[in-house]
Amino acid sequence: MEVVTCLLFAVLGCLLYLLVQLVRISKADGDLTLLWAERFGSSPESKLRGSVVWITGASSGIGEELCYQLAKIGASLILSARREAELQRVKKKCLEISNLEDKDLLIIPLDLTERSTHQAATDQIIKHFGRIDILVNNSGRSQRSLFVDTGLDVYQGLMELNYIGTVSITKHVLPHMIERRKGKIITISSITGLIGVPLSTGYAASKHALQGFFNSLRVEMGAYPDIAVLNVCPGPVQSKVVENACTEEYKTSVGTKTDQSHKMATDRCVRLLLIAAANDLKETWISDQPYLILYYLWQYAPTWGWWLTQKGGQKRIQNFKSGIDADSTFAFSKKTS
Ligand SMILES: NC(=O)c1ccc[n+]([C@@H]2O[C@H](COP(=O)([O-])OP(=O)(O)OC[C@H]3O[C@@H](n4cnc5c(N)ncnc54)[C@H](OP(=O)(O)O)[C@@H]3O)[C@@H](O)[C@H]2O)c1
Repeated sequence: MEVVTCLLFAVLGCLLYLLVQLVRISKADGDLTLLWAERFGSSPESKLRGSVVWITGASSGIGEELCYQLAKIGASLILSARREAELQRVKKKCLEISNLEDKDLLIIPLDLTERSTHQAATDQIIKHFGRIDILVNNSGRSQRSLFVDTGLDVYQGLMELNYIGTVSITKHVLPHMIERRKGKIITISSITGLIGVPLSTGYAASKHALQGFFNSLRVEMGAYPDIAVLNVCPGPVQSKVVENACTEEYKTSVGTKTDQSHKMATDRCVRLLLIAAANDLKETWISDQPYLILYYLWQYAPTWGWWLTQKGGQKRIQNFKSGIDADSTFAFSKKTS
C-alpha cells in the first residue's frame, strides 16, 4: 500500500512539475540560454558600462531604443542611419535621459548600401573614440509581397542592404577588433533568419544569409576568445519595420501604420538583447509565443514546425490579400511599450 501511495505522489509530483514548466514556457519570451542568463548571468550594467558601441539603424525602432538603454547604462555611442535629423533627435534624448556628454555621442550618417563610405566612417570613429568595443549591425528593411508578384529588384535590394551592407561594415570593423583581440559583433537577424515566412521571401533569404555568414565567421574567430559574434533573432517587435517594408517594387514601401499592440514591446526586446550581449550568447531567440514554440519546433521537430508554419502561413497570406496586417495572424497577446 505504501509503495502505491509513494508511486502516486511521484506521478503527481511529475505532473505538477510538467504543468509548472508548461506555464513557464507559455510565458517565456526568450530561448532557454537567454532566460537563464537573465536570471543568473551578468547584467548589462556591469558588463557594458563605458563601452564604445556603434549602432546602425539608430534612427528608429529597435536601434533607437538600444541607444536609450545603452546611454542610461553609460556606454558611448556612435549613431548611424541615413536620416541625420532623426539621429539628432535620438542623440538629444540620449543626453536628456543619461549622464553622457556631447562628446560621448557621435553621429555618423551612413547608407549601408554605399559601401565606399564605410572605411571613412570606421576611421572617423577610431579617431574620435580610439576604439570600437561593440558593433551592432541593426539596419535593415523587411518585405510584404508575394514572390510571384515581386520584381527581382526587391531581392537584389534586400540582399544589398540587409546582407552585403552588413558584411561590409563588419569587414571594416573586424580587423580593428582582431588587432585589439577584443570586441563584440552583434547582428540583428530575425525569426525569418531561422524559418520560412510567406510574403517575406527576399527578407527571409537575406536574414538566412546573415545567419550562415555570422555562424561561420564565429568559428573562424575561434582563435580570439575575446571576440564574440552574436546573432539575435527577434520575432515581431513594435517598430516601423512593417511601415518601411518594401512591396512588389523595392522603391515602394508599405507606408501605412499598423496596429502593433500584439507585438513584443521594443524596450523588452532591447533589454533581452543587452542581456545576450553582456553574456556573449552566440545565438539568441527573442519572441513572445506562439513564435517561440515555432523556433523550437523548427530546430527539434522540423516536420511539425513546417506543418504549423504552413497553417499560419496560409492565414497570413489570406490576411494580406484582404488588406489586414499579415503580422496579426497570431495576435494573441497584448503588449504595450
Ligand atoms: N521589428 C521587428 O518585428 C523585427 C523582427 C525581427 C528582426 N528585426 C530587425 O531589426 C532591425 C531593426 O529594425 P526595426 O524593427 O527597428 O525597424 P525600423 O524601425 O524600420 O528601423 C530600421 C532602421 O534601419 C535603418 N535603415 C534602413 N535602410 C537603411 C540604409 N540603406 N542604410 C542605413 N540604415 C538604414 C533605418 O534608418 P534610416 O531610414 O534613417 O536610414 C532605421 O533606423 C532590422 O534589421 C530588422 O530586420 C525587426
